Amino acid sequence: MNQTPDYIEGIRSHFPLLKTKVHDKPLVYFDNAATTQKPQKVIDRINAYYSTENSNIHRGVHHLSQIATKDYEDARIRIKNYIGASKENEIVFTKGTTDGINLIASSLGELMTKGDEVLISAMEHHSNIVPWQLLAERKGIVLKIIPIHQDGTLDMLSFEEMLNDKTKLVSITHISNTLGTINPIETIIDRAHKVGAKVLIDGAQSIQHGQINVTKLNCDFFVFSGHKIFGPTGIGILYGKESILETMPPYQGGGDMIKRVSFEKTSFNEIPFKFEAGTPNIIGGIALGSALEFLESIDTNQAFAYEKELLKYAEEALLQIANLKIYGTSALKTSLVSFNVGNIHPFDIGTLLDKQGIAVRTGHHCTQPLMDFYGIPGTIRASFSIYNSKEEVNKFIHALKRAINVLS
Ligand code: ALA
Repeated sequence: MNQTPDYIEGIRSHFPLLKTKVHDKPLVYFDNAATTQKPQKVIDRINAYYSTENSNIHRGVHHLSQIATKDYEDARIRIKNYIGASKENEIVFTKGTTDGINLIASSLGELMTKGDEVLISAMEHHSNIVPWQLLAERKGIVLKIIPIHQDGTLDMLSFEEMLNDKTKLVSITHISNTLGTINPIETIIDRAHKVGAKVLIDGAQSIQHGQINVTKLNCDFFVFSGHKIFGPTGIGILYGKESILETMPPYQGGGDMIKRVSFEKTSFNEIPFKFEAGTPNIIGGIALGSALEFLESIDTNQAFAYEKELLKYAEEALLQIANLKIYGTSALKTSLVSFNVGNIHPFDIGTLLDKQGIAVRTGHHCTQPLMDFYGIPGTIRASFSIYNSKEEVNKFIHALKRAINVLS
């Protein structure tokens, strides 16, 4: 019996790739934390841009350039509205989350001095670790790591103790890409602001699972990737408060980010263009706008609620399997589950799942320090999106049991 609600079937129908077969089996795509599939609207927009509109932006008076510029800037406005920013100059186009964090580390980092402290957590993705380590080497800042508990939640007591007047920035993931933990960012932002620190939220894993409002959150920066919210790869967003972006030096030099160049002195463009050197990923930005337009056309509240139900359904089924251990058991979790089964290597299970048409991610998920914390080389991670169904979870559990039988 098909239990999938009509609204989920409706959402699925927009994603052509979900009809694909892998190894002659219908694809079950549970690698959404790595990247989401694209709705037809996004695919069509990319095709239409290159078929009818392609030209460079902010440069030409000619017809095509004017159209492309307007579409790119309209996408910026749509993104601003979608995340609840107050001004479009607070929306900087980047290559993705990693690029956004590197921009902050390079630019805001220039304003930091030896002994200033940056706090991150023990559950961060490498992209929110390595840029700060590079900054520590370059500027002598001190990088401090907020510890976590065994259940994958932040040690908030330690966090509060680590804050002091040297803390310049707290850079933290909203949702762990490996554990699914939802961090209490409202409290973190409030406490950090009390000591005068700024807060950068890595929204790579949260942007596609609920409505974000950066103004209500009162975060100073929020970064995410377009490809994790049904848009293309190679495009991302850095939201920054206008008053802070104004004080920050440029990240890269080149065209578009300048007002006037001479060999004696160069003056810089206003924000956000000051941070957007070179010809950008024009269609990336426009198609990210189309992805948000798609989301605005469906009932996301219903879809996000089903995602939560799916996680609960999957976890309950997984916990029936002998020797299966779930990593990340916070009461506040979303839409992904990481686990291992006895001593079986995650790659072996991942490979046998793939043979049955099931796509999951295996390995350290770019969180090696977190793997060290748990003393494991990696996990199997199933991550869900708004188009996944309980039927797919049933297929996954059935395939997993077969894999375990072969490997035990
Ligand atoms: N950061 C992405 C993931 O967790 C690639 O899979």
